[in-house]
Amino acid sequence: MKEWLTVAMPKGRIFHEAVDLLRKAGYDLPPEFDDSRKLILNIENERLRFILAKPMDVPTYVEHGVADVGIAGKDVMLEEERDVYEVLDLKISGCYLAVAGLPEQTIQDVAPKVATKYPNVASKYFREQGEQVEIIKLNGSIELAPLIGLADRIVDIVSTGRTLKENGLVELEHIIGITSRFIVNPASYRLKDKVIDDMVERLSEVVEGESNDENNSAE
Ligand code: PRP
Repeated sequence: MKEWLTVAMPKGRIFHEAVDLLRKAGYDLPPEFDDSRKLILNIENERLRFILAKPMDVPTYVEHGVADVGIAGKDVMLEEERDVYEVLDLKISGCYLAVAGLPEQTIQDVAPKVATKYPNVASKYFREQGEQVEIIKLNGSIELAPLIGLADRIVDIVSTGRTLKENGLVELEHIIGITSRFIVNPASYRLKDKVIDDMVERLSEVVEGESNDENNSAE
């Protein structure tokens, strides 16, 4: 009998792309999966248990082993630095981390204030740039901070660029490109290697297939 595998999924933006990828990899996920409010979903025929977590918490569930595997953004992996294996770039939910602010703003402070959901990533970035900053941790709507005078700059995710544009902010520095990753608990990888390897293989076939399609259509 195939072993049960617990998969931590990020609620929100990444969720639908991740579900789409799993379906393309041949997992039979029922339609109720797409808009359920349940936080634990058992897919009996696939022997998969999905837990639906806040994106920033996915590596925590996987590190503690209550989920065997998970799907997490590279932004979250960089911020959380959890003890998990990052085994596959799923190449979905592409975006990037950037520094942004109001246009033509001169900053007098010795340590400008930077608002972000990613205090560790932002601190590391500015330290590497040799810049002294004061980090202000927020949990969302980061673009509000410079508009209301809470911060001089922000470090945040840019996807389409619409939020920056509609709020009159400009991108100042590109930090790093972000995609979603397939992550694995190290102990689970030892105990359930067959079923995890099977999932990684099926997912990588889809990922490779899609990037070949993109390359071919770009030619
Ligand atoms: C993210 C991010 C930006 C926005 C970028 O926020 O923090 O605010 O999306 O997307 P865009 O470039 O396509 O406009 P999200 O909507 O996830 O919510 P949050 O503000 O609560 O973090």
